[in-house]
Amino acid sequence: MNTVDIINKVVLKKELTDEEISYFVKQAVNGDIPDYQVSAFLMAVRCQNLSNNNTSVLTREMEFSGDVVDLSGINGVKLDKHSTGGVGDKASLIIVPLVAACGGKVAKLSGRGLGHTGGTIDKLESIPGFNTEISITEFIEIVNSLGGAIIGATGNLVPADKMFYALRDVTASVESIPLIASSIMSKKLASGADAILLDVKCGSGAFMKTPEAARELAEVMIHIGKDNGRKMAAFITNMDIPLGHNIGNALEVEESIRTLKNDGPDDLTHECVQAAGVMLYLGGVADSPEDGENMAKESLANGKAFAKFREIVQAQGGDLAYIDDTAKLLGNPKSYDVISLESGFINKMDTLEIGMSSVMLKAGRETKTDKLDYYAGITIYKKTGDEVKKGEKIARLYAQDESLFKAAEKRFLSAFKIQEKIDKENIWPLMLHKIV
Ligand code: URA
Repeated sequence: MNTVDIINKVVLKKELTDEEISYFVKQAVNGDIPDYQVSAFLMAVRCQNLSNNNTSVLTREMEFSGDVVDLSGINGVKLDKHSTGGVGDKASLIIVPLVAACGGKVAKLSGRGLGHTGGTIDKLESIPGFNTEISITEFIEIVNSLGGAIIGATGNLVPADKMFYALRDVTASVESIPLIASSIMSKKLASGADAILLDVKCGSGAFMKTPEAARELAEVMIHIGKDNGRKMAAFITNMDIPLGHNIGNALEVEESIRTLKNDGPDDLTHECVQAAGVMLYLGGVADSPEDGENMAKESLANGKAFAKFREIVQAQGGDLAYIDDTAKLLGNPKSYDVISLESGFINKMDTLEIGMSSVMLKAGRETKTDKLDYYAGITIYKKTGDEVKKGEKIARLYAQDESLFKAAEKRFLSAFKIQEKIDKENIWPLMLHKIV
């Protein structure tokens, strides 16, 4: 087999054989294909696309390029959810205990935040003692006994993605639907779940800027999952606005706790209930997504979802004193109020810029080695669609280091488009599309 021929076939939009894809991935990971040829292949895919069947085979080859997690020790349908990443997206912290409280089995492998998007593992580590590095054996035991657990993806999971992503990053080939789909789905397949709900974010704070592009990505990922024997569903949700009101690690855990106590913001509660409904349906616990939603609403209302969160935190070593008294969790950072400089309606929030202003406060990392301030972040009081008056408080910033406030405020305010009249036609709903 010849690497140049393989690249040339992609350039000419010809279908690759399964053997050619297998050869390419194996040789690339072994170091037998030089970086410049791997990069040329990735760029050819970015420019010429790849058929769904070739993308599915590429994903499977990537999945088996390293270790795969064996979850066969978990009884029942093993459920997972994956968000493509956003600002204020703490939904996993809520959905895992919510589904577990209703009888589902959620084995969640999560990542850390990078850039403007936060990561579930960083958020959980703001709870003193919480261990996201328990062994797979312990993880399986907790999922079997409590119905849910969350750990960081470690070990040699999907080395092909690590290699491809690093090359895509420096060769302008990140933004390609088959490459994004195979990157995400290879990690999901290697994580061992039987059924996966994808939350494909769309808008200024997401990879996919339009509902059409987000839907295309969701459909390709669903095809890959089904082709590889998984049950699949997807939501396309609005990331043109942060989810909930809190951005930052401890701040997002606190908002999740309020939501699990049935006292959270409407958008976040609504998204989590709908996700739990679909997951309970995929897991065979509910007869329909609507039945699942009703089960989820009931477990928020009767306290079972919050009780389950406490159990999972305790099982993973977290100190419950910080869950029961969230003032302790939030610490004692410095704070700074952001005041609106104009009156009118908020017609747009550039969510990427809002995420970056929280990174400036040290709630997120710009590079992998940056140290986080768990207490840093933003509470947003006014969001898209709301009316504001000049001089009114629209947000509060938190950080240990007061010198960070001014620059973060400037970036935060630049994200708001405030106009005299509300532009309802261009304000998206939370749920843009569902594929179940
Ligand atoms: N997330 C991933 O894991 N991979 C991509 O290519 C894009 C987003």
